[in-house]
Amino acid sequence: MRSVDVALGERSYSITIGPGVANSLRACLQVSPSASPVVVLADQTVANLHLAALTASLPPNSAVLPFAPGETAKSLTMVEHLCERLAALHAGRQTVILAFGGGVAGDLAGFVAAVYLRGVRFIQVPTTLLAAVDAAVGGKTGVNLAAGKNLVGAFYQPLAVVIDTDFLKTLSKRDCAAGLAESVKHAAVRDPALLTWHADHADAILARDSDNFTELIARNCAIKADVVARDERETGLRAILNHGHTIAHALEHLLNYELRHGECVALGMQVENELSCTRGWLPRPDAERIQSLLQRFDLPTHLPRRLAPADIWTACQMDKKNRGAAVNFVLLRGLADPVRVADVTAAEVERALEIIQPP
Ligand SMILES: NC(=O)c1ccc[n+]([C@@H]2O[C@H](COP(=O)([O-])OP(=O)(O)OC[C@H]3O[C@@H](n4cnc5c(N)ncnc54)[C@H](O)[C@@H]3O)[C@@H](O)[C@H]2O)c1
Ligand SMILES: [Zn+2]
Repeated sequence: MRSVDVALGERSYSITIGPGVANSLRACLQVSPSASPVVVLADQTVANLHLAALTASLPPNSAVLPFAPGETAKSLTMVEHLCERLAALHAGRQTVILAFGGGVAGDLAGFVAAVYLRGVRFIQVPTTLLAAVDAAVGGKTGVNLAAGKNLVGAFYQPLAVVIDTDFLKTLSKRDCAAGLAESVKHAAVRDPALLTWHADHADAILARDSDNFTELIARNCAIKADVVARDERETGLRAILNHGHTIAHALEHLLNYELRHGECVALGMQVENELSCTRGWLPRPDAERIQSLLQRFDLPTHLPRRLAPADIWTACQMDKKNRGAAVNFVLLRGLADPVRVADVTAAEVERALEIIQPP
């Protein structure tokens, strides 16, 4: 079992990681003198697989509100529906919401927790690798609009993050790979030693060896916790975690969420690294190291079909960090040397995009 702290003053919390740690939830829930009512907002697929194991660790007065899996659940319609259901359950201020599922469940349930009764407490119980290494930590919650990803949301920190690696065993290979994309991103912007570790332990990671998985998640949580503690609301440093994401969000939107978020991040990193190499910043061998790691983890290197570069550029302009301003990118001057730039031109991007267009 590993533990990582997120140091945010009175909003500090712990991340607990390891096999079977869901049974520590009861202790987490001793947050008020009387046992708090718990409502689990659960991805239906995850509920079918793991709800029995989870509820064994919860007080008897717990309720479950399942929702259909997939990125489309991150909508204001779903927020309204879940809030109505909470009201029908007479969920009050003492209620603790548990987000049970991947990044979609965390973003959605976290946002519901932020707005229901102007905020009730919540705990993240991530069940995808992507959510465990990234989405469940740091307090970004939100939903999508037709106009783009995550355009409505709130910074709202959980009470705790409980990552039971036993839940991750049922994850598809594809979703496991999607999580590894964010892990490679963390390594590229913050921790080159983690790049090496990925390569050295690739077989064990892909086999989901319990010790290696726990180590992988703990290292990622430590990176994210450190960045978030220094810049909770993304006024500066935290933006480095958007490396690969300007392109990724555009692709997710244009492909109507046909690819996983992590898959789009892998494609986005490849395009953005190409931009960095062309500018003479990132040495080619470093870009190639990242590229070969993404390939080793079976992440896509090409789009499923050709997309018009002009459409990708237009979609980049819709990203919320760019609204009303130039398009922002987090490029690399080298490994662990990210830089935010706003002067990338449409022509530069269109050229770099060629590397991910289908042959
Ligand atoms: N808040 C943040 O800081 C942050 C960071 C990164 C990504 N995100 C968001 O996270 C979302 C992507 O998260 P995701 O990749 O986890 O997607 P997801 O939540 O849709 O999960 C992917 C799939 O895995 C299934 N699944 C989940 N757990 C499972 C398990 N244990 N066994 C079997 N199947 C399981 C789900 O039903 C779903 O079909 C995106 O919306 C992205 O914007 C948020
Ligand atoms: Zn991401």
